[in-house]
Amino acid sequence: MANKVLSRIDSASGCEVDKILLRDFTSSFRCGYVVAEGGVTMPHGYVDVCDKIAQFSLRDDDIFVASFPKSGTTWTQEMVWLLGHNFDYEKAKEFLPARFPFLEVQVIYDPIDVIKTMGSSLYESVDYANSIKSPRYIKTHLPWQLLPTDMTKADTKAKIIYVWRNVKDCLISYYHHCILLEGYKGNFDNFYKMFLANKVGYAPFWAHVLGFWKRRDQENILFLRYEDMKADLPSVIRRVASFLGKPCSEEQLLKLADHLSFENMKKNPAVNYEPVCEMNKKLGLINAEGSFMRSGTVGGYKTYLTQEQIGEIDKWTEKCLEGTGFSP
Ligand code: A3P
Repeated sequence: MANKVLSRIDSASGCEVDKILLRDFTSSFRCGYVVAEGGVTMPHGYVDVCDKIAQFSLRDDDIFVASFPKSGTTWTQEMVWLLGHNFDYEKAKEFLPARFPFLEVQVIYDPIDVIKTMGSSLYESVDYANSIKSPRYIKTHLPWQLLPTDMTKADTKAKIIYVWRNVKDCLISYYHHCILLEGYKGNFDNFYKMFLANKVGYAPFWAHVLGFWKRRDQENILFLRYEDMKADLPSVIRRVASFLGKPCSEEQLLKLADHLSFENMKKNPAVNYEPVCEMNKKLGLINAEGSFMRSGTVGGYKTYLTQEQIGEIDKWTEKCLEGTGFSP
């Protein structure tokens, strides 16, 4: 097994959730799952790249947007990219993942032959991120302990903007995402069980958030919340601009906030992932209906989860956060 990988998830383990995961969440492009350092569930494709990711060389002017999946990553990326590129809305018409690559996207597609059929170097993502010019803007969902080793060095200059979201909305969003873009074939109740058992990609959720929260006072880390972006986007834009050392006038700020509205992002093909859904359909990988820009709301979980499930998540959260000092 590669360095950061502890074991392979096996349906003979006797664990019901492992069985569900391997039955409902494997496909022609997802052959299985592994447990990585920190008890993190990762698609099996991670095995091929974990060493490469650990050894990935950072540059002083690298800017990362990191998050647990479905926490407002794309929203944050578009904001950060435009602040970093002098509000170049013309260049921002280019597909976001080309401007702002997803470091480990290749782990989603396994075996590697599937990636070859995509005909895009973007999916050989670690090499792609290595090859682009500085300053690089890079997205990752990796938890702290699986980031490139350079990031954990005390003198690293690379910046990280971490965004997190209410766990219940995140769970609902992740369920829809996994059907739309990752080939999940099961029902909501089983996804819910897997999420709480830390058996979905990048889980455990709270350990992910805590890994960055604990380091929020580091000069190179900015810790954001989706709900704050919803409540007052201009204030968050100001914080991010100041963190990046990029000036932003009131006029530029208002234009950017408008560009970043849910309605505008939903109809923007550079960021709404419709081209990826189309490609998945064309390649026969996934044939699901839905939209990446789904609801963009806070508290949408209330119409999804039963009172019993809400109570269970609250108890689980309390247990996961006990003694940490973090209050969600
Ligand atoms: P929903 O599925 O709840 O609608 P990520 O980019 O991390 O995958 O997160 C995707 C989630 O962020 C989706 O949540 C998506 O709709 C939401 N989102 C994306 N852009 C947004 C925006 N401009 N305003 C509010 N939510 C947005």
